[in-house]
Amino acid sequence: MLVYLNGRYVPAAEATIPVDDRGFLFADGVYEVARIYGGRPYLMEAHLQRMAEGLEALRIELKDLDGIAAAAERLIQENGVDGDGTIYIQVTRGAAPRKHAFPAAGTEPTVYVAAKPYTNHPASWFEDGVEAITFPDTRWSRCDIKSIALLPNVLANQAAHAAGAFEALFVRDGVVIEGSHSNLWGVRRGRLITYPASNYILAGITRSLVFELADELDVPAEEGMIYREDLFEYDELFLSGTTTEIMPIVRVDGREIVDGEPGPITQKLLKAYRDQLPR
Ligand SMILES: Cc1ncc(COP(=O)(O)O)c(C=O)c1O
Repeated sequence: MLVYLNGRYVPAAEATIPVDDRGFLFADGVYEVARIYGGRPYLMEAHLQRMAEGLEALRIELKDLDGIAAAAERLIQENGVDGDGTIYIQVTRGAAPRKHAFPAAGTEPTVYVAAKPYTNHPASWFEDGVEAITFPDTRWSRCDIKSIALLPNVLANQAAHAAGAFEALFVRDGVVIEGSHSNLWGVRRGRLITYPASNYILAGITRSLVFELADELDVPAEEGMIYREDLFEYDELFLSGTTTEIMPIVRVDGREIVDGEPGPITQKLLKAYRDQLPR
């Protein structure tokens, strides 16, 4: 499997970074995960746009963002990814002697791109739904930046894993904000609701697509708060995300949402999502 690292295509096992890379020392960087469907990158422009915004917020100057799209295309070819796959992109502030303040001007960012085949979650999870747990949101208040500093997400997701659940839902001040690696949606009286795009969530590329699909299906959708204490008053709950796609939640903290079956609006949205994929 070839990967792209700082302008070179090398076997993954031979790709190395210096120990003073600021991604390694400070988690000083951003990342993206995009899907490949039918051997083609999916919604790549939107992912690169979000990466550009993250880089700007962190003041990491990357001259050739377009080169990343080209690198991903070449890796898809070289690695023979002709069906489903994922593209992983990571950019850090580069390698420099360890000091908190930015390194000297001219320090080149580290750019890493991988593209490889991906096996989707089991069909039964999409058909029958999955379980989630709630978990305190201890993250910083710039969750809109897709930072590689993911420790709260790692700990939350591990807690879900240990509980036999698919996802951990972050709760901040009594509001269920989003998942550890996905956005949360509720359906009540036929209306979709999801946490507002703000500094407290990563506004997913899939989240934007769900708004579009809902519009096409004439399902009203709006931004708003899903309170922890009202969670079981929702008719349906689901997650959206690049690898999560549209995933019904049928149980939270061991308690069923309605009858523990995926709801009709979630199913319609998942079908619409699948139908519009390039194949
Ligand atoms: C915290 C968080 N929220 C939401 C998402 C969903 O974003 P997207 O649909 O762009 O994958 C992710 C994806 O990794 C995430 O990490």
